[in-house]
Amino acid sequence: MRHILAGLVLSSALVARAWDGQPTHIYGVNLGSWLVLEPWMLPQEWLDMGGQSCADDCWTCIATESSFAQAYPDTVDTTFAQHWDTWFTQDNVNTLKAAGINTVRVPLGYWIVEALVDRSHESYPRGGLKYLRRGLGWLKDAGIQAILDHHALPGVQTPAQMFTGNCTSDVQFYTPYNYHRALVWTTVMTALSHLDPDFGSVFAIEAVNEPMMNATQTPHYGAFQRNFVQVIRAVELTLGIYVPSSSLSLSVPLSVSNNFTAALSATSSATIFPVEVRTALVEAVPILLEIGVASGLQTIFEASPFKRSCTSLVANFMDVNWQSDNPSNPADVAIGSQAYDNHLYYSFGGVAAADPTSYLISICNLSRIQADAAVGDSPLWFGEWGLSTEFNATDEFLYKWADAQKLAYSKGAGWIYWNFKTEISSLTNGSALARQWSYLEGLKLGFLTHDPAALHDPNVCAPYMNSTANSTSS
Ligand SMILES: *[C@@H]1O[C@H](CO)[C@@H](O)[C@H](O)[C@H]1NC(C)=O
Ligand SMILES: *[C@@H]1O[C@H](CO)[C@@H](O)[C@H](O)[C@H]1NC(C)=O
Ligand SMILES: *[C@@H]1O[C@H](CO)[C@@H](O)[C@H](O)[C@H]1NC(C)=O
Ligand SMILES: *[C@@H]1O[C@H](CO)[C@@H](O)[C@H](O)[C@H]1NC(C)=O
Ligand SMILES: *[C@@H]1O[C@H](CO)[C@@H](O)[C@H](O)[C@H]1NC(C)=O
Ligand SMILES: *[C@@H]1O[C@H](CO)[C@@H](O)[C@H](O)[C@H]1NC(C)=O
Ligand SMILES: *[C@@H]1O[C@H](CO)[C@@H](O)[C@H](O)[C@H]1NC(C)=O
Ligand SMILES: *[C@@H]1O[C@H](CO)[C@@H](O)[C@H](O)[C@H]1NC(C)=O
Repeated sequence: MRHILAGLVLSSALVARAWDGQPTHIYGVNLGSWLVLEPWMLPQEWLDMGGQSCADDCWTCIATESSFAQAYPDTVDTTFAQHWDTWFTQDNVNTLKAAGINTVRVPLGYWIVEALVDRSHESYPRGGLKYLRRGLGWLKDAGIQAILDHHALPGVQTPAQMFTGNCTSDVQFYTPYNYHRALVWTTVMTALSHLDPDFGSVFAIEAVNEPMMNATQTPHYGAFQRNFVQVIRAVELTLGIYVPSSSLSLSVPLSVSNNFTAALSATSSATIFPVEVRTALVEAVPILLEIGVASGLQTIFEASPFKRSCTSLVANFMDVNWQSDNPSNPADVAIGSQAYDNHLYYSFGGVAAADPTSYLISICNLSRIQADAAVGDSPLWFGEWGLSTEFNATDEFLYKWADAQKLAYSKGAGWIYWNFKTEISSLTNGSALARQWSYLEGLKLGFLTHDPAALHDPNVCAPYMNSTANSTSS
């Protein structure tokens, strides 16, 4: 029943209605390589910044934010400020708005909450929050909603990936210390989402981007999911925000009803929440006070009556079927609205045989939405996908490939393309990379349509369904 409620909230309150009164889908792009930089998407800029290129072996050279920060401790902040200032701009927002994009997913590292970085052995650029606030403000003004995606977790959630900020085989996220830091991060982000006017575009927070796929390697992830939901709801109940389908109740002492940080301290002694949640709230208080001073939000955080009219956030998780080997199901810990995320890239192999017909048979016959709905993971959106392929794709194929994927994902809650843009330089063979990875380039080349709900051929899948005779994939 909770899932039905979540669906209603999503379609009626959060996503604007359009097109003849039908609820719209999520038509989105990721703001990748902005606040979590992945050099493969901007190889020339990365070299110009002082980074290095080491192809697949990202641990052997300066290929992540942390190795960069270690190599350039004195200049890293100014170098990254320049990147944050220019990679995602007001101009991009205008273009995305004009192209009908209604949602962005914003990949973030834990280090955007600077106090969480243990500088004794972790290095990351500082100053990103200012740019995040500015960008979210632009999105709010444009009416584009945002998902804050915890993309790069403390301790690293998956091995040997640039997108974790630290390319290493030593995965430490699934430990009490790092789960705890992620909960403090979530507390801070929830508070900012409800209190900082610039965060007015945020409607969801995603717990963990792409945890390891084998659940035996992610011990206690289910307990973390439960705590993640509870810290969000604890902040919201502190603010007096209505949480649908929740029986939790909390009364904030009158003496602190004009000081949110004090009220959060008071909530941390509410025994309806487990100790792990309560300590995360307490530890977020000094961090919020510090951010309040640095960001001019002190009055809002410490000396204003709380806004009670806000909508509660959607708690967003990678779907249960992202993992194998007896994963914990985030639907089991729902309090209020939840939504689920699945990512689908054919180019990394393992989905379908490496030829155009097999790709189309596979996508046209996609069963992930039904499989998730059967275990309560609904609504589901596809938070990462693109046009990349394991073979050299013709233009003719890419029109179909874009259409067929959009068609498949729109049977769920919609889609979010990876990425809004990628570099075009001699190192990317001109537009060869952008052609299959950049939404803005895909629009320019015509594979993606100027109305994101439109398809070049609504019957693109007709030849590829109900065909078992010549199917080479499953
Ligand atoms: C990267 O991860 C390794 C292994 O966990 C750790 O020893 C190192 O301190 C991390 N580096 C940074 C800069 O976070
Ligand atoms: C998951 O890990 C366990 C323990 O290492 C192993 O037995 C199992 O085969 C793995 N599952 C998959 C699908 O690789
Ligand atoms: C608000 O509460 C915090 C946390 O208890 C406290 O540090 C701060 O001084 C208070 N601010 C005001 C203006 O009373
Ligand atoms: C794609 O084309 C490039 C350049 O012509 C070629 O080097 C490469 O081998 C081709 N890849 C495949 C998978 O055919
Ligand atoms: C570079 O891109 C062109 C098309 O723009 C393509 O024909 C060529 O095969 C690509 N070269 C490589 C090495 O990928
Ligand atoms: C199956 O084969 C027929 C005849 O070769 C072809 O027209 C059709 O497109 C194929 N369908 C699929 C799904 O491959
Ligand atoms: C197979 O075709 C029938 C009738 O055209 C249609 O109702 C059904 O949804 C199709 N099944 C799949 C898996 O495409
Ligand atoms: C694909 O469609 C065929 C025919 O409708 C069906 O038998 C098969 O189960 C489908 N595969 C998936 C993965 O849904």
